Amino acid sequence: PVSKPLSGKKAVVTSGPTYEPIDPVRYIANRSSGKQGHAIAAALAAAGADVTLVSGPVSLPDPMGVKVVRIETARQMLDAVLAALPADIAVCAAAVADWRVAEEAGQKLKKDGSGVIADLKLSENPDILATLSQKGPKRPQLVIGFAAETENVIEHARAKRARKGCDWILANDVAPGTGTFGGDHNEIFLISGVDATSDETWPRQGKNGVARALAERIIQHFA
Ligand code: C5P
Repeated sequence: PVSKPLSGKKAVVTSGPTYEPIDPVRYIANRSSGKQGHAIAAALAAAGADVTLVSGPVSLPDPMGVKVVRIETARQMLDAVLAALPADIAVCAAAVADWRVAEEAGQKLKKDGSGVIADLKLSENPDILATLSQKGPKRPQLVIGFAAETENVIEHARAKRARKGCDWILANDVAPGTGTFGGDHNEIFLISGVDATSDETWPRQGKNGVARALAERIIQHFA
């Protein structure tokens, strides 16, 4: 018999990039693969949680036993996340685009031959992690975000935790030379409190390992 320590718990996980349309054929996006978010959704489901995975466009199979909601834009991601509430656990692993094109063109933008380049006006996207972290009856009990930093990792991650209002931040060092960016391995620092007494450094491991370690910590939290 497999133990299901998170049975009865609901989780919502964000994963992948967002696509922000410019016109009917073009968009702004980023290189997020969705591997980490999908692995977390799978690990929470394996532990018995009822998981909704809200994912941007990725080329990964749906994790087993997970309800997957596919979206493209940051605003659609926010709507889908809010629709999945109430939840006990929220993990924001998506690489949400910071900006969207203020007014999506209804028709394909054309070069007009004048040599003048189209001037795209951008608007700021909603911050899904910060929105989920706001106090209120629907706030998940445990809200977790990520921070990729290139210097002063712990210090910046702690500031991000305070700014977003989330409970835990999983921080990693993506400075050139660490091999983290684009690589398959991650050294994670878990920031779970206001001071260093609760900090943890996890051994360097793959994204599936990080997902299982996070599921373990979540299980401990609710035990
Ligand atoms: O501010 P920054 O993008 O560095 O924060 C990263 C964390 O915030 C990640 O957990 C990411 O999923 C989340 N985030 C979000 N919505 C945004 C931007 C970031 O949920 N618009």
